[in-house]
Amino acid sequence: MRERTAVYPGSFDPLTNGHLDIIGRASGLCDRLVLAVLVNEEKKALFSVEERIAMIRENVRAPQGTALEVRQFSGLLVEFAEKVGARIIVRGLRAVSDFEYEFQMALMNRRLSPQVETVFLMAKEEYSYVSSRLVKEVARLGGDVRGLTPDSVAQALRERFRRP
Ligand code: PNS
Repeated sequence: MRERTAVYPGSFDPLTNGHLDIIGRASGLCDRLVLAVLVNEEKKALFSVEERIAMIRENVRAPQGTALEVRQFSGLLVEFAEKVGARIIVRGLRAVSDFEYEFQMALMNRRLSPQVETVFLMAKEEYSYVSSRLVKEVARLGGDVRGLTPDSVAQALRERFRRP
């Protein structure tokens, strides 16, 4: 039988518990899950791509029976998906506000590569408001982000925003 490969792309800047929840759900649906970390020169990331990949490697454990890979990518997502042999793109959906952006991306990706299907998964309700952007903002302003990210990520955020 053909191996079912899915790609879960994102900036992961940084990894949140919402991402971990989606990774867990996606792993149950495929044989091989490729976490694709965006290298985006235009968008200034807080953490380098190497740091983001290290955070994922440290905190993600694939369930038995699923191969998990963490890779960086730049350029078109559908080209990356093709390169790794994936016909499924996984994205997490939180609130309705995510929908418009996700809808546009999914349809654009379908136009670029009709054989690749985007699948949306919903994280646990308790993570429905958690985003990397908000977590960074709270951490930057000295707020507590424990419980929203893995502990080592919360620690990395504290260090990055430590006041002199
Ligand atoms: O975590 P993010 O920032 O919401 O992830 C966005 C991501 C990486 C999925 C998106 O920016 C992306 O796919 N970038 C690659 C460029 C691309 O393929 N663009 C055309 C399709 S819309």
